[in-house]
Amino acid sequence: MARKKIALIGGGQIGGVLAQLIAQKELGDVVLFDIVEDMPQGKTLDIAEASRVDGFDVKLKGTNDYKDIAGSDLVIVTAGLPRKPGMSRDDLLTTNAKIMKSVAEGVRDNAPNAIVIIISNPLDAMVTLFQKVSGFDHAKVIGQAGVLDSSRFSTFIAWELGLSVKDINAMVLGGHGDTMVPLVRYANVNGIPVMEMLERKYGDAAKAKEVMDAMVERTKMAGGEVVKLLKTGSAFYSPASSAIMMAEAIMKGENRLMPTCAYLKGEFGVDGYYVGVPAVLGENGVEKIIELSLNEEEQAAMDKSISAVKNLVADMERLGF
Ligand code: APR
Repeated sequence: MARKKIALIGGGQIGGVLAQLIAQKELGDVVLFDIVEDMPQGKTLDIAEASRVDGFDVKLKGTNDYKDIAGSDLVIVTAGLPRKPGMSRDDLLTTNAKIMKSVAEGVRDNAPNAIVIIISNPLDAMVTLFQKVSGFDHAKVIGQAGVLDSSRFSTFIAWELGLSVKDINAMVLGGHGDTMVPLVRYANVNGIPVMEMLERKYGDAAKAKEVMDAMVERTKMAGGEVVKLLKTGSAFYSPASSAIMMAEAIMKGENRLMPTCAYLKGEFGVDGYYVGVPAVLGENGVEKIIELSLNEEEQAAMDKSISAVKNLVADMERLGF
């Protein structure tokens, strides 16, 4: 079987961790592209020099030339500015749209058969723009947001219950902004509803709700919490790990169900927009969107999040993208 090739567009904080994780998992050969001269070459050299110690055997190449991404099976995009303290993801729209347009052209012209995972923010708009400029099949252009938001939610639940995070299943849907929708009713510990466990812990439904509400709020603001602490950038370990879970599902054709920023054609009552929904990821990218029943409150939260995504896309179009 031919070795897979994975191109990483953007060799900053997330791009560097992605390159290291791909090498350690031997998911494929890595090409790390950035516009900054020498930096991606330095990072890939550094990672390659750990291969003997880590015991991996993949090729790693740093580059400033799009031609080197030719033949890539998968492209992961992190090009763009990260947030500074006090900024929302949407504040990055103008700068990152310019960058994303050039990235989409570079990928379109050099790796036309690749499946693409976008990480750059504001996520929902950046995925929309990449697809529009590249003209790639919608199922082959997706965004990473929900896997990370869900992992954050699961982490907070595990801490609260004093249980291993490995047994927590929780999903966050909607746009990757402050209106994202953590699905409380579906959150469970190996099948047992988290709300039931909280009610048992506190012996009081109102207190359980209050504790859950705080975790939901922290999940929505979790990216900003990290930005505030780091002061010079945004989260990078957890976004990289989350994208790797998606990449692995695609490269290995696993058909794993995970929250994905995917293009909707009528599902969840949305037509023609990228929104975070449960999707099956396999060798063709999005194999299937999974609809689930939402109660009135969940549907209202989802509707609010969807209109935030629509507003963001409209803002981007008004800027001429
Ligand atoms: N083409 C390719 N790379 C570019 C371009 C471009 N036109 N413009 C900027 N870059 C590169 C920068 O040189 C930098 O190395 O993108 C990289 C971004 O890296 P960081 O600034 O370290 O940001 P990072 O933390 O990796 O986050 C990247 O992901 O989560 C989002 O909000 C985050 O939008 C941000 C993106």
